[in-house]
Amino acid sequence: MGNAPVQESVEQATTTHEGLAAWVAEVAALTLPESIRWVDGSVQEYALLTDHLVNEGTLTRLNPELFPNSFAAFSDPKDVARVEGRTFICSEKERDAGFTNNWMDPAAMKEILDEKFAGSMRGRTMFVIPFVMGPLDAQDPKFGVEITDSAYVVASMRIMAQIGSEVLRKIEETNAFFVPALHSVGAPLAPGEKDVPWPCNEEKWIVHFPEERAIFSYGSGYGGNALLGKKCFALRIASVMARDEGWLAEHMLILKLISPENKAYHVAAAFPSACGKTNLALLQPTIPGWKAETLGDDINWMRFGKEGELRAVNPEAGLFGVAPGTGWSTNPNAMAAIVKGNSIFTNVALTDDGGVWWEGMTNEVPAHLTDWRGQDWTPETGRPAAHPNSRFCTPIDQVDMLSPDYYSPEGVEIDAILFGGRRKTTIPLVTQARDWTHGIFMGSTLSSETTAAATGAVGVVRRDPMAMLPFIGYDAGDYLKHWIDLSAGGNQERLPKIFLVNWFRRNAEGGFAWPGFSENSRVLKWIIERIEGKAAAVETPIGFVPAEGALDLAGLEVSDADIADALKVDAAEWKEELAGIDEWYARFGDSLPAEMAAELEGLKQRFAA
Ligand code: GDP
Ligand code: PGA
Ligand code: MN
Ligand code: MN
Repeated sequence: MGNAPVQESVEQATTTHEGLAAWVAEVAALTLPESIRWVDGSVQEYALLTDHLVNEGTLTRLNPELFPNSFAAFSDPKDVARVEGRTFICSEKERDAGFTNNWMDPAAMKEILDEKFAGSMRGRTMFVIPFVMGPLDAQDPKFGVEITDSAYVVASMRIMAQIGSEVLRKIEETNAFFVPALHSVGAPLAPGEKDVPWPCNEEKWIVHFPEERAIFSYGSGYGGNALLGKKCFALRIASVMARDEGWLAEHMLILKLISPENKAYHVAAAFPSACGKTNLALLQPTIPGWKAETLGDDINWMRFGKEGELRAVNPEAGLFGVAPGTGWSTNPNAMAAIVKGNSIFTNVALTDDGGVWWEGMTNEVPAHLTDWRGQDWTPETGRPAAHPNSRFCTPIDQVDMLSPDYYSPEGVEIDAILFGGRRKTTIPLVTQARDWTHGIFMGSTLSSETTAAATGAVGVVRRDPMAMLPFIGYDAGDYLKHWIDLSAGGNQERLPKIFLVNWFRRNAEGGFAWPGFSENSRVLKWIIERIEGKAAAVETPIGFVPAEGALDLAGLEVSDADIADALKVDAAEWKEELAGIDEWYARFGDSLPAEMAAELEGLKQRFAA
């Protein structure tokens, strides 16, 4: 990010919040920036920053006739995804980070961070970004302040969260607690040194102090590592807040469905990164009479309401979506939002007329592109034009199907929770849990093939409890216990029904057995009709699956063999799966809740019967 100092920004704002003033002074004394800018969040400021980034070569301004007020960024090829191996939960006790997290003693980690951040902003502007996750008028608004030396991060944060002066005023007025979130790309500039388009550091540290509720991110400019309101705050730190305060911070989309009888239902769905949340969140149903509205595509904060009903809000203001596979035929609602403009694309390809393109955007493949690494690309090139984890960053209020309830601080009542992953085998298209605890069991044993959203091997099956494996900010067994204990306080009649789904099972030819995307509305219809007590199901050892003819397949051109492949419960596959679950649960040690061990035992017995 060409963060040579933004000249217009040297004027110093102040704050009446003593804690914030002290922290900003302390960080400046450590990181030694050339100037400090308090981010006001205005349109003028956004224009100033993006102009600056264009001059520095970090951003390419897109053709305004195709993508108004939009930009493309191209990262260092080694800084394209979240770095789970470099992500730490530094709780006081190692036990409290659990086996799913990297841990280091907080004092030892602070020494490392002090050394890394010392002088790390030399030659750059230090930006102070006050932000709030969720509505500013919530009863207990969740504030953060990100300090960063990346103007790209400031511009992206403006899309993903509410930032700026109004937030700062509220923090000051209420003398609020805020999560301090310090970010540096880790690339100080010597006097006169020319910047590179995407400064970053080979060495990356994404560090959370759950007791202090503090975040430190060093060395990366990539969204999931650098936009600290998102994964670091709204999932890792928020999951700890949620444990302490009695709510849930989850990696879930929120979708409203309206039936032909005009009844509204809300569905929350947890799928691992790059496994279909944004697509399902922006669903365009194919079945007649059904309508969908979206509330969120990645993060869901849930708490029980006055009547013991589970209510959900989306704390984010934007979509940070996987670009490849997002297209006019698969996800027209996303495309319509994107082409309205005001977006930042990262690691997509450029078209010759100044637009962007990625695999799957259009059926027709352009004859020539500039790929994400700046090289000439033609359909014969033989490698993807856009990076598999390339992203669009777009304001959520540009989505036409956005539910007006998105703006409600009380949120919406959740009727169904879906857990899903990317599995070639074993997991049927849809299975309803026998009851709530069984549903938590399904979530706790969720598994999925790894994707390009995180660095490392792609396509390896791993357990990913509630799609939160990289995001649980504390011990994973305690996390499951929190789900179990918390729900005991809710209205048992109104607990959401829980389902396990898999859009990614393969047929005998290796293709997807289920067409997916908009056709997933058929599965949602069955789910809603189960809640209404209308749809037929068959009980199997793993739960309830659609009875013959219960899934609405009218007008769908899929072979009976494919449907059978998508739906089957295969005892041989499950034998292997049970062994995998055994191994997984063994890793929890003492912290596995007894309720979960009992569920596994029950499942084994049902298979043995
Ligand atoms: P997210 O990261 O969980 O939000 O996932 P996305 O919705 O962005 O999707 C990630 C990738 O999975 C994209 O390449 C999509 O095209 C693909 N995808 C999403 N939904 C489906 C589906 O129903 N079927 C198949 N086969 N692919 C899907
Ligand atoms: P995703 O969000 O879940 O849409 O991929 C970003 C991430 O999880 O890294
Ligand atoms: Mn995500
Ligand atoms: Mn997404």
